[in-house]
Amino acid sequence: MKSSFARFGLLSCGLILALFGGGLMANNAEQANAVAPQPGHLGTQMENIAPPDSGIFMARNIALYEGHWQGMDVMLLDAELRQKLKYPMGLRGVIVNEVTLNAALSGILGGDVIISIDGNPVIDLESFKRETYNMRLRNHAPIKVLRKSDSKNGDRYIMNQMVYVLRANGELGFAQMESAPMIMPGEPRPHPDRGPCTQCHSIGDGRFTMPDPDLITLPPPKIKAQDVDLNRSPHGDRGPCLACHQLLP
Ligand code: HEC
Ligand code: HEC
Repeated sequence: MKSSFARFGLLSCGLILALFGGGLMANNAEQANAVAPQPGHLGTQMENIAPPDSGIFMARNIALYEGHWQGMDVMLLDAELRQKLKYPMGLRGVIVNEVTLNAALSGILGGDVIISIDGNPVIDLESFKRETYNMRLRNHAPIKVLRKSDSKNGDRYIMNQMVYVLRANGELGFAQMESAPMIMPGEPRPHPDRGPCTQCHSIGDGRFTMPDPDLITLPPPKIKAQDVDLNRSPHGDRGPCLACHQLLP
């Protein structure tokens, strides 16, 4: 494992190829575009592909929201994200949201924008999915990313272009995709207006493990009377023992 790690390091060391200026297609309308409903996606034209008795609505062309591949989570870099992250206007690709496992070993970092895989352009989640599919039987793939530099052009970051080699022990396989989370009918939106809800969300109940394991409180274990007498607990002072514990018979 150690030697292969060193190998990853060598082959994947980033190569700064060019500078990517901010202000690509200086387009102030980009925020407005983000909220405009897309033609062909109007609510009435959406066909439900979920089984009739499932209680779920899922539109046939539901938008992809996240891709998972070799330890990376990627999302579409849309106008809203470009604006929030101060990435160049009009920059297209998928942004790496989280990296672990082979993606992290390759040198890719969170915040990187993937713009091509094996030389083929990645501009959205659909092309990301397609290009990973083309790599599925390979054990390595060159990934071109744009990474935020320390300097800005106007209020947008200048990006550096780098190439990393993603490697797997066996086949790379292809990305698995997710849509935005399923929401309950009538749930208020926590985000700005983005168009018809069902374009991105499936509607229904049942997206989480019920009950939520994080919210289950188990009673403290029963303890020995002796522990109470001796004030012997594995945790710090939480107050009188019998406020929380019962005694073992
Ligand atoms: C263009 C896509 C898109 C549209 C349209 C959209 N959403 Fe969302 N929504 C998302 C995404 C992506 C998330 C997850 C993270 C985020 O907030 O960006 C989300 C998150 C949510 C969440 C939080 C869910 C959770 O479990 O975290 C709710 C609730 C929600 N949206 C409701 C709505 C409602 C109601 C509408 C329609 C009025 C709507 N959304 C329209 C993309 C969309
Ligand atoms: C406010 C609640 C609270 C108080 C007061 C409290 N405990 Fe606990 N205790 C817990 C909880 C909860 C656990 C389970 C593990 C944890 O959360 O640390 C625990 C775990 C223990 C355990 C480990 C039992 C096992 O089987 O794993 C012992 C022993 C124990 N407490 C002894 C005491 C003693 C002795 C006192 C009094 C000096 C005391 N506790 C006061 C809540 C409390």
